[in-house]
Amino acid sequence: MAPPTRPFIFDDTQIDRSQLRKTAFNLRWATVEEDVIPLTAGEMDFPIAEPVSEAIQRHAREGYLGYCPKLGFETLREAICEDLSNRSISASPDRILVLDGAAAALKAACRAILNPGDEAVTFDPVDFLLPHCSELAGAKVLRCPVSPIDGSINFEALESLISSKTKALLICNPHNPTGRVLRKEELSAMANLAEKHNLTIISDEVWSEIIIGTIPMTSIASLSDEIRKRTITISGFSKSDGLSGMRVGYLHCENETIFNKIVDFSGVLDTTSGATALSQVAAEAALKEGGPWRSSFVEHLKSLVPYTADQLSQLAGVDCPKPEGTFLLFPSVSAFDMDCESLAEFILTEARVAVVPGAERWFGSRAKGHLRLSVATSRSVVDAALERLSALWGQQS
Ligand SMILES: Cc1ncc(COP(=O)(O)O)c(C=O)c1O
Repeated sequence: MAPPTRPFIFDDTQIDRSQLRKTAFNLRWATVEEDVIPLTAGEMDFPIAEPVSEAIQRHAREGYLGYCPKLGFETLREAICEDLSNRSISASPDRILVLDGAAAALKAACRAILNPGDEAVTFDPVDFLLPHCSELAGAKVLRCPVSPIDGSINFEALESLISSKTKALLICNPHNPTGRVLRKEELSAMANLAEKHNLTIISDEVWSEIIIGTIPMTSIASLSDEIRKRTITISGFSKSDGLSGMRVGYLHCENETIFNKIVDFSGVLDTTSGATALSQVAAEAALKEGGPWRSSFVEHLKSLVPYTADQLSQLAGVDCPKPEGTFLLFPSVSAFDMDCESLAEFILTEARVAVVPGAERWFGSRAKGHLRLSVATSRSVVDAALERLSALWGQQS
């Protein structure tokens, strides 16, 4: 393999802001005013790994971009199985469905498992996609509180939410927005509840490659054969490989009946949905050749994310725990005596930094009083944002 020509460094020299202004949507550079630093959506400011870029270009040059196999390219599904086996999940390619993003996989899984009248249990706070996809399927969502400070779970509360109507337990590991990597013991406790109450576990592991603390990533499906059989594992390439705009993700479901139902609901059979050929080529290259680049990116985050948390915690009235996974920070902010939506607006107007408010619609009611900041960028972008925040806080007294 030819040596990489672009170095694995994650500083300002690698960030092309004029390109980001044309390409980074979803509350980011292309959608904010020019002097604003966006620390909003969970995606990176860095260009994708060179082997992935080359694979896309090579495939496009070959000139054939026809329809793909219904479940996704077999070579990609094999690569996904190999990746899952590194997470101790034994999987076969015919139980992998490649879709246009982890979000699409979540939606298809929820539609296959949940019907109107059913209930789904998830957490509060948690990324809106988990309750949203459950609700799209017609289910009522009940939310178990997790501590927004350390992300710990109240298991008594969790079990008390489960009834005969409950069909699914939706987890997010590592957890968006608290950045907690779920402990093996916690996963075992959830798995026991799922077995006791005959629930399907839908595990969103789109952040699983971004482990920056000392707690190892455990996939719930790796706990036992029984648990794997009742779990739908979801992941993708948006967070760790910068492929968010390619819209590609996947799910694994061992249970054949449920898998076929998911395939039915996903829209791949009638061609109303699915990942494009180029996206799948990119995903396969990321799995097969993107490892060294991805590891360097995670190394960069291992210093940047805790550093940012420490700096934020220096601001009066801000408490920012250090995440164990993800590149998201979720500080509680009691400064300025404002609700978090007004505060985010105030920070945008006065400091020209865009952040996500801990609003109920994004994360649930327990996100109140928090902000979420995404820092998959260079140290100097983060420092510029911190300097602005610190100047704003300085005006408070
Ligand atoms: C928990 C979670 N699931 C899914 C997604 C979306 O992933 P994708 O871009 O692959 O659809 C995100 C993105 O923010 C996320 O945080």
